[in-house]
Amino acid sequence: MLVDRFDRLISYLRISVTDRCNFRCVYCMPAEGIAVSPRSELLSFEEITRVASVGAELGLRKIRLTGGEPTVRRDLPQLVEMLASIRGIEEVAMTTNAALLDELAAPLKDAGMSRLNISLDTLDRDKAARIARRDEWDRVQRGIEAAQREGFGLKFNAVVMRGWNDDELGNLVSFAHSCGAPMRFIEWMPMGLTGQTDRNQTVSWREMLGHLQTRFDLEPEAPTGADPAKMWRCQRTGARIGFISSMSDHFCATCNRMRLTAQGELRPCLHQNAEVDVRRLLRGGASDDELAGAFREAAGLKWAGHRMNDIIPLYSSKDMVSIGG
Ligand code: 5AD
Ligand code: SF4
Repeated sequence: MLVDRFDRLISYLRISVTDRCNFRCVYCMPAEGIAVSPRSELLSFEEITRVASVGAELGLRKIRLTGGEPTVRRDLPQLVEMLASIRGIEEVAMTTNAALLDELAAPLKDAGMSRLNISLDTLDRDKAARIARRDEWDRVQRGIEAAQREGFGLKFNAVVMRGWNDDELGNLVSFAHSCGAPMRFIEWMPMGLTGQTDRNQTVSWREMLGHLQTRFDLEPEAPTGADPAKMWRCQRTGARIGFISSMSDHFCATCNRMRLTAQGELRPCLHQNAEVDVRRLLRGGASDDELAGAFREAAGLKWAGHRMNDIIPLYSSKDMVSIGG
């Protein structure tokens, strides 16, 4: 079992498979100056699978692939198959911008992936192009259709930013509901260089709820386990809405996760500048016990909760794209 200093059980590993992305979302990476790692610095599929297997022995049960954009990593379905066959791993899921799902949804499903979180910040084509700094609207639409066709468990996620998409919450809810999926709204978190911009961009979950209550007849759902989202439900239509309130009401006390970066560092928290280098261990011929030691070390470093609301706030020096959301 992997338990941290605050008695939190770590059962969920988010694995970044690449620091590259086919988008350039304004909230996730700066317009320029993001260095991507050379291929040799990324963990291979075999290395990722070995780390995950050791993690599974320690009690990891769920894996989510992230990026950058995970689908830009070549042969991704092969990795999914390797991870899904690890004893103890009950679920392999992924967070994606959907642009490459038209081709990949079917092979990913066949490989054993069960759930997808699709990032969808707006329903306005021009705004989507401004947010992503790329016009990929048609491909995203085809990707969403492919994901539905394949019968994935779907959730849609929007990062809400003041003045960008905070006028669209109701329409996003209706769209997600028409796909049979919940719509989750994420408070924008300042991180890395991206976080140096206007911090007033964050819209609190209560403010979002206030907007939505003018249109939907909402009641809260009972909280479930370590789900960071506060879920609400429209009584009339059954539409489900989630709020991920990392900034205004963080959920660190029930955190069950750890991250593995594309370069092979175990990172105990998105916002904590602490990492344990497992790539060096892997490539230096470390035993499984030594890898397990790296997991324990990372769990031991995990702090009680993020410090972004302190008088002197502490921010991740890395942008989200370099860690994996
Ligand atoms: N704040 C909140 N969420 C973010 N994401 C990326 N950057 C941020 C940020 N600054 C999330 C988005 C995206 C996923 C990869 O990470 O939801 O879909
Ligand atoms: Fe890429 Fe996702 Fe970051 Fe957008 S949010 S730049 S799609 S990793």
